[in-house]
Amino acid sequence: MKKVIITGSSSGLGLSLAKKFLDEGYFVIGLSNSEGIIVNLSYVHRKINLALPAEVNNFISFIKQEHDNFDLIINNAGMLYTADISNYDIENLIESFSINVFSHMKITGDLFPLIEKNGADIINITSSSLEGTYPSFLAYSASKAALRQFTKELNSSLKDTNSRVTEFCPAGFQSNIWKKMKGLSLERDENKRMNVDDVANIILFISKLTKDIEIPFIKINNKKDR
Ligand SMILES: NC(=O)c1ccc[n+]([C@@H]2O[C@H](COP(=O)([O-])OP(=O)(O)OC[C@H]3O[C@@H](n4cnc5c(N)ncnc54)[C@H](OP(=O)(O)O)[C@@H]3O)[C@@H](O)[C@H]2O)c1
Repeated sequence: MKKVIITGSSSGLGLSLAKKFLDEGYFVIGLSNSEGIIVNLSYVHRKINLALPAEVNNFISFIKQEHDNFDLIINNAGMLYTADISNYDIENLIESFSINVFSHMKITGDLFPLIEKNGADIINITSSSLEGTYPSFLAYSASKAALRQFTKELNSSLKDTNSRVTEFCPAGFQSNIWKKMKGLSLERDENKRMNVDDVANIILFISKLTKDIEIPFIKINNKKDR
């Protein structure tokens, strides 16, 4: 049975992915800051706050002790902090970078020897906010830019292994990220966003490709709002 680790599996893209991988017969290890909502014998959930280093370390120990034979990691958990450039809150900056970048770097880095050994694949979720300039989103985009660079470095480090590394860079899709946004109170029309299951299907497709094929970068446009 193949095993996938999905961060942020309580909502939005991570939840959709977890359900889809379960349907495909995978064992799924999920985490979020809230309790898990999936009930399935092939699903295990850890309530982990990725902004707290001690909890990130607990999760890494859990994987090493109980699920060291994973095949795929999807670094999906994320939060949106919006602010005017002249009004950053340092706590929110630290929290957003901790969740969007540092936790993914630490988990992937500590599991790196196992990734090499297992030939495990990695998919990192960035954002199309990186493709333009959106001043209120600068903190979020900067965190995703760091994740992009980390993804490139990972890809290079794993060049001669069976592991493949993908940056998955989507435009807006329906999820709870805007409702949970910290900082400014911005609105968007969720009806104009892509369907989350359609986006998850693309990730599922990529992950099932033969190991001879690697997709280092994939960008998904929202045709309704481009
Ligand atoms: N939706 C979009 O339009 C869009 C576009 C481009 C990229 N993305 C990216 O897609 C990814 C998934 O986001 P989504 O849109 O599906 O958002 P979402 O519905 O808000 O889901 C985010 C997930 O991350 C988890 N998470 C957030 N903070 C956490 C923390 N401190 N510790 C542990 N888990 C935490 C959430 O769990 P809890 O809330 O339960 O903690 C939730 O499971 C993110 O990386 C996001 O940046 C989204």
